[in-house]
Amino acid sequence: MTKINRIKGFSDLFPPEITAYVFMEETAREIFSRYGYQEIRIPILEQTELFTRSIGQETDVVQKEMYTFPDRKGRSLTLRPEATAGVVRAYIESPSSSLDAVNKMFTFGPMFRYERPQKGRMRQFHQVNVEILGEDSPWSDAEVIIMLWTYLQRLGLKKLDLEINSLGCSQCRPAFHLALKNFFKTLDQKGLCSDCLRRADANPLRVLDCKVPGCREMIRHAPKINQHLCSHCEDHFEKVINVLSASGLKYQLNPNLVRGLDYYQRTTFEVISHDIGSQNSVAGGGRYDGLSKALGGPDVPGIGFACGMERLALLLNGINERPKDFYLAVLHEEAMDKALLLAQRLREKGFFGVMGFRVKSVKAHLRQANKLGVKTCLLLGPDELGRGEIQVKDMATGVQRAVSQEEVEQALGLNIKGKNNNYLSGR
Ligand code: HAM
Repeated sequence: MTKINRIKGFSDLFPPEITAYVFMEETAREIFSRYGYQEIRIPILEQTELFTRSIGQETDVVQKEMYTFPDRKGRSLTLRPEATAGVVRAYIESPSSSLDAVNKMFTFGPMFRYERPQKGRMRQFHQVNVEILGEDSPWSDAEVIIMLWTYLQRLGLKKLDLEINSLGCSQCRPAFHLALKNFFKTLDQKGLCSDCLRRADANPLRVLDCKVPGCREMIRHAPKINQHLCSHCEDHFEKVINVLSASGLKYQLNPNLVRGLDYYQRTTFEVISHDIGSQNSVAGGGRYDGLSKALGGPDVPGIGFACGMERLALLLNGINERPKDFYLAVLHEEAMDKALLLAQRLREKGFFGVMGFRVKSVKAHLRQANKLGVKTCLLLGPDELGRGEIQVKDMATGVQRAVSQEEVEQALGLNIKGKNNNYLSGR
């Protein structure tokens, strides 16, 4: 039989790599809940129109990267390339969507983009995604950004840069679009890639986002959005950056930060790492005040961000799973029942451990215990069974002693006392 391989750009996550993902999720729950966010789950598959309408027809994501296919009834469906559109769709359909309710939500999960796979860029990747709907205060922008930064610090990530910009709103954006269009008209447009030649007129902001080196060169002297903000947007942005400065958070203003999705307005931001190669954006987000309305919902503002978990995982070293407290080795089948019930009792008392279900030699069991990295190996054979005892072997010192089966918890407790407690789970 030929082997069936996984799809290019998709990966299986096993220990120890998965430990970093669980750590990211546990930390997100801990941090975000302090700010009043609640976890939600939404579908991975949506109607294609949800993404074309929200992310935008002229974006790379919609034009080149979506996994789109008809279902059995011919309806066009798409594997979500990002979570914001789905969260807003779910919010609109939920009973809690109303003009005056604030909803703070976060979710995790896989996203799908048909991009060229490389380090930090997958076709299936995972995001930690945060959204707040119903709030347009600049202080909510600042809180979201500070929460993102707090989260990244709590993960232990240090060498990161925060970039921030304002993209203006539906009031001031048209004048900027016009300035951009006029600028492109003055250029020898042969320098633009074929996509940008079209975008220069249809959606000029997208040209600023193009990664093709020729286009990047051409746009160096393009007009900047910060010179075209209306007074409302200017005031909003000033309040955001003032409070960020007051918080001590270091940021850089980047007027070229336009983000790759059409729904953004006003505040946008990205977190960059210089330690993971060319795919260096570890998180990105911004305000999307028109999105709910554009998707047929109430006209409520929104802001959020997403962290790329594959990229954060590249930066997270040394996240260890909590070591098991015991390995229970059974030396004869007649001791199996007793061993299983004993292991169950220990777990109910809060210990972490595994039992070997195969009868093996003491040597083979100890090898297994070593492989699992347990602190203590418990050995139960027919002799111990008869005496109501169990052998307790400290794997670090090699010291072995017999204790009564009633006292195993105590013996285990002694051996795990003083252990380093800074592990992923069981903290
Ligand atoms: P995004 O910038 O497209 O924004 O993606 C957010 C993060 O996802 C990126 O910074 C990156 O770390 C990660 N990412 C994107 N594509 C890939 C890929 N192919 N492989 C690995 N990681 C990737 C959004 O998705 C917005 N929905 C964020 C947002 C939420 N804005 C407001 N709310």
